[in-house]
Amino acid sequence: MGSNKTINNFKGKDILSLDQFSITDISHLFQVTKKMREIGRRAKPSNLLKGNIVTLIFYEPSSRTFGSFGAAVKQLGGATIDVQDPQHFSSVSKGETLEDTIRVFESYCDVIVIRHPAMGTAAKAAKAAEFVPIINAGDGIGEHPTQALLDMFTIYEKFGKLNNLTGVMAGDMLNGRTVHSLIRGLSKYKNNTLYLLSPDELKLDKPDFTKFKNSGIKLIEIASTGDMPKNANFWYWTRVQKERFKSLKEYGKVKNRFVLNNKLIKERAGKDTIFMHPLPRVGEILEEVDLNPNAVYLRSEVRNGMYVRMALISLVLGK
Ligand code: NCD
Repeated sequence: MGSNKTINNFKGKDILSLDQFSITDISHLFQVTKKMREIGRRAKPSNLLKGNIVTLIFYEPSSRTFGSFGAAVKQLGGATIDVQDPQHFSSVSKGETLEDTIRVFESYCDVIVIRHPAMGTAAKAAKAAEFVPIINAGDGIGEHPTQALLDMFTIYEKFGKLNNLTGVMAGDMLNGRTVHSLIRGLSKYKNNTLYLLSPDELKLDKPDFTKFKNSGIKLIEIASTGDMPKNANFWYWTRVQKERFKSLKEYGKVKNRFVLNNKLIKERAGKDTIFMHPLPRVGEILEEVDLNPNAVYLRSEVRNGMYVRMALISLVLGK
């Protein structure tokens, strides 16, 4: 963020990592998110962002995060500039630097939302931007803060707290940016325990594991569904991140090692365990689970994403 931007809770701030928030910030965000839910449920859109323009610049394919941000802005009467896949058809393909692209688009809008395949790019964009806040919509295998905030909101809505929780995270701990952000988020609260279920090759990398552990959360790595606790509050299933693999053969070896199906629910889930997934799923949760009342991935998790993004954009704009 450039020096011209003010820092005051959310106003004018870049949203880059879960590390940047205090518990108070998150509570405030969730209060606003609840108001946004009321607006979202009304047929008539609000005019809170009337006259505001948000650029969505996505260097990596995205349908739902892109759609969710777009819907969030439009629900509040704002407009978007949609730039998908810029490296293939624009000045970027002519060799323009990321910094210049950001400087150009910040002249057109009030907020820039960026997704990029390289870790650290959102932070780089934030450094380049002089006037507008940058929101990280996923930076390679780094973080995906808005996804983690919507996941936390979903958990909070179900259990009324974000401490004293037990969760299972399954799939790709190494490359999953949503996992990296969610662990950071839950580390802020007391007495949380996460069981990390993944093939050996997809465990968190050692420095991250140590860093997260030192931040106060209890992390237990497991390699079999038989080691899952029976009292988990949530199961957070994730896709093995195919696009991060050097070869399809390597991907094939580890994909869908752990599948969430009704049998597993019967064996290991509690009566209140909720089943979460950032989506898209590619076989790691069977469709037979969709009708389970505790399956939130195609229900509240998706809608909460839009409400949290409505809240975040309004807050960074000081509304
Ligand atoms: C996630 C992502 O992009 O990291 N998806 C999303 O935001 N909709 C998870 C994933 O792609 O597996």
